[in-house]
Amino acid sequence: MPCTCVVGLQWGDEAKGKVVDVLTDHHDIVVRYNGGPNAGHTVMTGNKTFKLSILPTGVIRPEVISIIGNGVVINPTRLREEISQLLKNDIDIGKRLVISDRAHVIFPYHVEQEKLTESKQGQSIGTTGRGIGPCYQDKVGRVHAIRTGELTQHAHLKERLDTVVDFKNKLLRGFNHDAVQFDAAKLADEFHEHGQFLKPHLTNTVTLLHQEFKAGKNILFEGAQGSLLDIDHGSFPFVTSSNSITAGIGSGSGLPSRYVTKVIGILKAYTTRVGKGPFPTELDDGPDGLGERIRKIGKEFGTVTGRPRRCGWFDAVAARHSSMINGVDEICIMLLDVLAGFSELKIATAYELDGDRITYFPTDARELERCKPIYETLQGWNEPLTTASKISDLPTAARKYADRIGEILELPVKLISVGPERSQTIFTGRV
Ligand code: IMP
Repeated sequence: MPCTCVVGLQWGDEAKGKVVDVLTDHHDIVVRYNGGPNAGHTVMTGNKTFKLSILPTGVIRPEVISIIGNGVVINPTRLREEISQLLKNDIDIGKRLVISDRAHVIFPYHVEQEKLTESKQGQSIGTTGRGIGPCYQDKVGRVHAIRTGELTQHAHLKERLDTVVDFKNKLLRGFNHDAVQFDAAKLADEFHEHGQFLKPHLTNTVTLLHQEFKAGKNILFEGAQGSLLDIDHGSFPFVTSSNSITAGIGSGSGLPSRYVTKVIGILKAYTTRVGKGPFPTELDDGPDGLGERIRKIGKEFGTVTGRPRRCGWFDAVAARHSSMINGVDEICIMLLDVLAGFSELKIATAYELDGDRITYFPTDARELERCKPIYETLQGWNEPLTTASKISDLPTAARKYADRIGEILELPVKLISVGPERSQTIFTGRV
């Protein structure tokens, strides 16, 4: 039974949502297995655009079941806001949204805790400020974690929150005398009410997924964030707190990763990053520079936080690392249209680190910070690409650029995207 995973190979925002949307035609179920409301994805349907962060992209398709797996962290308030946004636009998710009763819940104290570490009491990562890290910390720490399945039991929830909130209040106050303090009873009421709302959607998604898999359903896994933000294999510590790579599928959904038959890696034709951390190919060249030009043309501003994304040339060293750790079978090159009008384009094929040429992605963020890209230069093109619908419509230089990326990564290019619309997708026919 085909089980496919769509995974970002850079620092997130690779336009995975568009590929997931295109592929949902051939899938019955879409599953999110990691991250939480830090993952912004823009979904377009007809003339409407939705900015979602927690709901899977597949949710707007009436024939698709969307599953939020156990590896996801959920802020119920935000989830309900997104559901209402859809309802207002006559998209009724009904029973098509299924949420794991093992997923962990983000509480307001997680957000406050994050403010502390992002300001003065820790290593600032440049996070989305959504409480992701502290919630996953509680999950791994076990003693202060609360799962979605617990929200429906008021007495139990109140008992848990009595202990947890006391701890969190002391922690917050310990670092800041004026820190916000939480009331366990109020939180218990509020989150129990969320639990009642979510109840029809909550279930053991592991059992469900295995049943559907056995029944021959086509399942699509939607990775949130990008592989370079993976907690184990990304540019640590400037990463998110979950396994965004394909390894996260087994732990974050309960369906063994080995059932995945195809891994589709998504790459922008250039590189972007939001938040802090090393970025070897960054074009930090001022308001009239190439980085700013890519940002403007590519509308490179965060979906969740609105922050301007840092922009730079395509980094094949990083992409090779990501392809390797994900077991990528084929790639999609997104936003190629953004690069029209550049006289020449660069691809980093190696780094120079302390005088040595290296082709691997360093483990240590401080080493990565010192890496200088070694570039290969390719010819640019002037023609806009946005109306191209087949590979032969592309100017030779654009075709060569896309081919070169596939060649360096030793992977077939499945599709090239030249705009946000579904129609602006070129299937190469090579996969
Ligand atoms: P957190 O996930 O909010 O803890 O943020 C950790 C890092 O991951 C920060 O650099 C964020 O900007 C980045 N990040 C988290 N989610 C996304 C995403 O969906 N796209 C791009 N970057 C993200």
